Amino acid sequence: MIAIAGGTGRLGSLVARRLTERGLEVRVITRDPARAGHLRELPVQIVTADIRDRLGIPAAIAGTTTVISAVHGFAGPGKVSPESVDRAGNANLIDAAAELGVDVILMSVVGASPEHPIELFRAKHAAERHLINSGAAWTIVRATAFVELWSEILRKPIVFGNGENPINFVSVNDVAAVVERATLEQNQRSRVIEVGGPRNLTFNELASILRHARGESAKVRHIPRPVLHVAARFSSQARAAIAMDTIDMTFTPRPPRPGQPVTDPLDALEHPAARTGNRG
Ligand SMILES: NC(=O)c1ccc[n+]([C@@H]2O[C@H](COP(=O)([O-])OP(=O)(O)OC[C@H]3O[C@@H](n4cnc5c(N)ncnc54)[C@H](OP(=O)(O)O)[C@@H]3O)[C@@H](O)[C@H]2O)c1
Repeated sequence: MIAIAGGTGRLGSLVARRLTERGLEVRVITRDPARAGHLRELPVQIVTADIRDRLGIPAAIAGTTTVISAVHGFAGPGKVSPESVDRAGNANLIDAAAELGVDVILMSVVGASPEHPIELFRAKHAAERHLINSGAAWTIVRATAFVELWSEILRKPIVFGNGENPINFVSVNDVAAVVERATLEQNQRSRVIEVGGPRNLTFNELASILRHARGESAKVRHIPRPVLHVAARFSSQARAAIAMDTIDMTFTPRPPRPGQPVTDPLDALEHPAARTGNRG
């Protein structure tokens, strides 16, 4: 039995589908079973737990061999934050897994580091360190930005900042394939695996591609950096937007293993198979 915390999300839903297609037993952990409605045709168990609640976790992962953490607290319902979900919540999950002898596959971000300007990246780094020191068998999968998420965010053609900074985008389907392999293959333990897409794009380029693909004539609008700097005083998302507009967000992927899908972000947008796994 494999548990997926975040199994209702964009990535977690795709991983749940892949694992069940292999005939494996899957348990999806969610704070609210109503959010698992799109998984109803999959043979998955749904259990209710919030990883911020330390006491509820052992029962949620009891009887599993592996738990995948595909959660984040960057945005979303339930007053989440990177500090409470990615740092403290993951620590709860990891401690319970170590106690029960359950392997942990942790989703993180390319660039996770203690000094990173984006809070999420610092919290992911803390979770990585916690896992490595926990005594649980582990694999860390770090990914770049999911192009399917950003195409949804750019549904309105509004770019935060100048939009000229190159950023690596990956298809969530490619990430799901890596997580699946990391879950199934014991020789992937004690490894940090980085996955990114085959090219970097600026937000201006991505917005313009989406505009043409959607046949929209509206011009791309920008939220100027000075406005972001004002918002950054109280919004961690605005601070993240400034960082994404200014710091190095590029990535050069290693040659893929045989069978590892590598989707061009533009193809991912044209053929959005990933959306079948998305609750959105
Ligand atoms: N999106 C990206 O661009 C990107 C890039 C690199 C890495 N990642 C990582 O990939 C993973 C998946 O991202 P995603 O974009 O697919 O996520 P998503 O669709 O936004 O889903 C987030 C998931 O987190 C769960 N969650 C949040 N707080 C929780 C809590 N306190 N307890 C239990 N579950 C909680 C939600 O479950 P419920 O709402 O059902 O409780 C939901 O399933 C995350 O670890 C993320 O950091 C994402």
